[in-house]
Amino acid sequence: MTEIAALEALKAECLQCQACPLAKTRTKVVFDDGNPNAPLVIIGEGPGENEDRTGVPFVGRAGKLLDRVLLENALSRRWVYICNTVKCRACDISEGRARNRAPLPAEMAACRPYLERQLALIRPVVILCLGGPAASTIIHKDFRMTQERGRWFTDSPFAPWVMASWHPAYVLRQGGEAYARTRAELVADIDQCRKKVIEIRQQGGLLARQVAQAEPVEESEPGLF
Ligand code: URA
Repeated sequence: MTEIAALEALKAECLQCQACPLAKTRTKVVFDDGNPNAPLVIIGEGPGENEDRTGVPFVGRAGKLLDRVLLENALSRRWVYICNTVKCRACDISEGRARNRAPLPAEMAACRPYLERQLALIRPVVILCLGGPAASTIIHKDFRMTQERGRWFTDSPFAPWVMASWHPAYVLRQGGEAYARTRAELVADIDQCRKKVIEIRQQGGLLARQVAQAEPVEESEPGLF
């Protein structure tokens, strides 16, 4: 079985998951989006309301900002693979209304094997963690975003090059100067990731399937990696 076929089988398994209580309140499991052959993987926190409804990561306001900052780096979802630390929406339901909340440590622990198996099949060259939960799951558990964002970590079992940046939802919560600064930093961090993929490609460090996906399919499309 190819890695991509194994990823499909993992997704089918994940869609049936009952490993934690989030299975009872979810509408859809949100497994992934984008290109599984991409050398760059972006990991968010977990689905919100729109993702829970559609089964697709990053489709709400934060997702729109992610698409925009990717585009500012001449990237789209065709060039990256997107997934989350937790695959089901974490929410509390009271008086018939669901309110998003951060996933609990036990929920993150229950979901972790899916993320680890997903990354083992994709074999990314670069991982960009968006927000604290993804960074503390992938980089180290005491990760401090204010001090450690935008830095390369090269000792990860999940990819040779790993970085964390602001979560787009965090950027959206900032006002004025802080919004402009965090947004610009997110754009700059994605730029670093894109340049790292190019550097590794030039060194012959990409898998054959990752090189193949990097060829533009249309004349008008720039070769990005
Ligand atoms: N925020 C995330 O971290 N992931 C999503 O899929 C959507 C919003």
